[in-house]
Amino acid sequence: MFEKLKQHWKVNGLSLILIITTFALGGSLCGYAGRKLMALTNIDKGALWVVLYILLVTLLWPLSVLLVSIPLGQFNFFKKYIGKILGRFSSTKNNNTDEFVINIAIFASGAGSNAAQIIQHFSSSAKIKIALIVCNKPGAGVLNIAANTGIPSLLIEKEQFFKGDSYLPELQKNAIDFIVLAGFLWKIPKRLIKAYPKKIINIHPALLPKYGGKGMFGQHVHEAVINNKETESGISIHYVDELYDNGAVIFQAKCIVDENDTAESLAKKIHLLEHAHYPKVIAELLQK
Ligand code: GRF
Repeated sequence: MFEKLKQHWKVNGLSLILIITTFALGGSLCGYAGRKLMALTNIDKGALWVVLYILLVTLLWPLSVLLVSIPLGQFNFFKKYIGKILGRFSSTKNNNTDEFVINIAIFASGAGSNAAQIIQHFSSSAKIKIALIVCNKPGAGVLNIAANTGIPSLLIEKEQFFKGDSYLPELQKNAIDFIVLAGFLWKIPKRLIKAYPKKIINIHPALLPKYGGKGMFGQHVHEAVINNKETESGISIHYVDELYDNGAVIFQAKCIVDENDTAESLAKKIHLLEHAHYPKVIAELLQK
């Protein structure tokens, strides 16, 4: 049961204990405060008392739980939890506000073959939703993929991304929990890295730390690998920090580079590896 709750609420063991403790203490506090307040009314214990008491504790419960959640460090969880309950009474609910669903934004600048694989992989998932495609290039293939799969897309421009709010309000409006870069060529600004700590990952078409860094993208990577007569290359999936291709590596897979390989043939091998592994690695990361 605890395992199921952990998965359902997307929390680790310690957080689960703190959440259950918050429910218990919040409930007790609510009951205690309810009885104290009822005592002030001088209403005799009877049917009316019971009805009023139930109404009162229904109103007090969210407040009590939120209060207790602060010292236990669970405020964000309960804010969302209570928001969801309230959301059920509201008709203007955002499609992405179910807190038990992890909403992913895919950032891509190009053809979007990785984005397509990821979308396909999670298309029937109840837990993980591709909620937004973010693209910096008008006319990029990934925008067609978004349109064909009915996923909202956001075309971003440089000034606002690097010098403005970095589109954080749009990401928040879409309740984005996790960002997946799939061929996104701009550096991720500090503001987004801070807002999504360890929640932004990238795929690089080489075995980092080799062939990474500024200017190392697309064919440039494969050309460098071929020119250096490497016998193997591969893919690296890594967390994103403020430097290009620098964050901790999460997963790597290799392929052989043979002497007949060209940058184009190597790119094909790498794409196959990416398509086979990226969606699965995302699923594994988010199920932890
Ligand atoms: C991939 O090779 C990825 O490693 C790199 O950009 C490429 C994107 O390809 N970061 P696609 O647009 O997903 O086809």
